[in-house]
Amino acid sequence: MSIKPREHWSSRTGFVMAAVGSAVGLGNMWRFSYLTAENGGAAFVVLYLVVTLLVGLPILLAELVVGRGSQRSPIRALVHFGGRAWTPLGFVFVAAGFLILSYYSVIAGWTLRYAGIVLFSGFDATIADRFEDVASGWDAFAFHLLFMAVTVAIVAGGIKSGIERSAIVLIPALVLIVCGLALYAATLDGATQGYAYYLDTDFSKIRSLRVLKDATGQAFFSLSLGMGAMLTYASYLGRDHHLPNESVVIASADMAIAFIAGLVVFPLIFALGLSDEVGGSTVGALFITLPHAFAGMGAIGRVVGILFFAALIVGALTSAISLLEVVVASAIDGLGWSRHRAAWVMGIAIAVLGAPSAWSTEVLGVIDQIANNLFLLGGGLALALFVGWVMKDPIAEVRAGAEGIRWFFLWRTFLRFAVPVGLGFVLLQAVPDTWNAVVKLFES
Ligand code: PFF
Repeated sequence: MSIKPREHWSSRTGFVMAAVGSAVGLGNMWRFSYLTAENGGAAFVVLYLVVTLLVGLPILLAELVVGRGSQRSPIRALVHFGGRAWTPLGFVFVAAGFLILSYYSVIAGWTLRYAGIVLFSGFDATIADRFEDVASGWDAFAFHLLFMAVTVAIVAGGIKSGIERSAIVLIPALVLIVCGLALYAATLDGATQGYAYYLDTDFSKIRSLRVLKDATGQAFFSLSLGMGAMLTYASYLGRDHHLPNESVVIASADMAIAFIAGLVVFPLIFALGLSDEVGGSTVGALFITLPHAFAGMGAIGRVVGILFFAALIVGALTSAISLLEVVVASAIDGLGWSRHRAAWVMGIAIAVLGAPSAWSTEVLGVIDQIANNLFLLGGGLALALFVGWVMKDPIAEVRAGAEGIRWFFLWRTFLRFAVPVGLGFVLLQAVPDTWNAVVKLFES
């Protein structure tokens, strides 16, 4: 089959914005703050930063190398460098895109709904008790469909005029809003206690394999790693890009936004005396505690609430776009479909797959664990082995556009030994944990 000339990003900024858009999302605000709360605060944040640098960054560079080097979507990219035996891993990546987007979009739907409530009527004190109503059932499904429709429309628009154009507008807006909110949060009375909780490190809390597993899962989820999303975006890059620099920029932006989001969330929670709600944190934390906080703040709470949910929606949208692009690019390359057809057909399939998550937050929580603990961490392990041992000369590919750097052999050695051993170790905890979560769901 002849391959059509591949569309490329129109500029470096375009690619970086889209990739940062993929990384920065609900993971930075919703998932990061609930895991930080659940795991006792700052020590978890430190662990997450360390894992991002030691494991996340090398895998991110690996994804960029495979994507740009092959100029293909994930399944074909793996076959290109590794032969047919690697087809199943490509399918696992696409399946992960399906699975994650199916529930990610449900959470984005909650966000849309909350944005609507705060915009048109403002939160009242009962909002915390109404979370389950908002988060499950036909309403949740309807908002999930709405969010999917917007995502599909942008992906159908193509790399330059859909994905790049939206990211270039949305990401700077998101950064401004989140920084503005952090400055505002600093002026609140309880801010100091919030910071204390968030920033005082108590390392005794992180001496468990379970916390390491959560931190590693979070690093992968937040950086969009382990399922070929960054790989797919890099497949639209030319060989003049400095991939190590790009990966450092993307990872720094992602960590910075997660960190700043914490500077918004924790002071808000503590200012309103809601810290008791933090410890028992679950998937719903952000959607229960924060509206409660906004409701208690009067008129200003409405403005802050609108901005907060706007930032969440923007982050969710640019991430959802990248999740769908993995699936769509694979359908275009593999089935010869048009972009338009691929986006709508796959988008509808994913929307239907999201139904169980829209009807039950417990199901959603378990699917999130399966996606992270098994798909992303397993996918990351496989990618490290692939680039470390199978791909012929990944270092030559990094060098294109980044001549003169000498330490790349270290990167490959790291991918060969340290990363697989580390991830293998984390999977020893992740697999039984996920199994138990599934069993618990079926028993309930
Ligand atoms: N990185 C996104 C976030 O933090 O919200 C989620 C995500 C996007 C995960 C794309 C995986 C992915 F491929």
